Amino acid sequence: MPDGLDFSPEACEYNTLYLREKMHNSAKIIVLVGLMGSGKSRVGAELSRLLKLPFVDADKEIEKAAGMKIPEIFETLGEAEFRSGEKKVMLRLLAAGDKVLASGGGGFIQPEIRAAIKEHSISVWLKASLDTLVERTSRTDHRPLLRGVDRAEKLQELIDKRYPIYAEADITLVTDHQSPKEMARRIMAEIDKRETAGKSA
Ligand code: S3P
Repeated sequence: MPDGLDFSPEACEYNTLYLREKMHNSAKIIVLVGLMGSGKSRVGAELSRLLKLPFVDADKEIEKAAGMKIPEIFETLGEAEFRSGEKKVMLRLLAAGDKVLASGGGGFIQPEIRAAIKEHSISVWLKASLDTLVERTSRTDHRPLLRGVDRAEKLQELIDKRYPIYAEADITLVTDHQSPKEMARRIMAEIDKRETAGKSA
């Protein structure tokens, strides 16, 4: 067996075993954080495929728990209720079960969720430029925070507020022109580096 990650097409099984063995958290949870449009869901789905871990999208879990889509939760119950639901769902998802978890953009910003992420998982911030975020979020209209506002202005405001907080994640990766597959491989390589460093420390 090669000693390290091997990204040849036939190596998926090997990478999975290699990296899972190295991850010493009792629950192997990898949480992707970052702003809307940073690619958390697409990269997360790819990473879960490579690592053969279940993929969970926090926004979808919140929708399931509420029995409503996110825009409807914001409209009928308000943002504060959404945040309280987001906290309950995230704390439940972080309490147990190996998984790749794509958080909503505001998840890591809530102190209790952030503390639970730090305690139970390896966190990865997908850091994207304003241009990338504007381009990617303009393909859809399901994000209440970006409805009826100047998208670039709102995203810049969120960058200013949130980037110093996302920077507390275990791993930061700049993502602008890479495919989800490239990003997933980079995350695996970073986890590999981190776990190696952790074990030799
Ligand atoms: C939000 C991001 C959204 C969703 C909600 C609020 C935020 O998730 O949770 O609209 O506060 O940044 P995505 O980052 O997956 O779009």
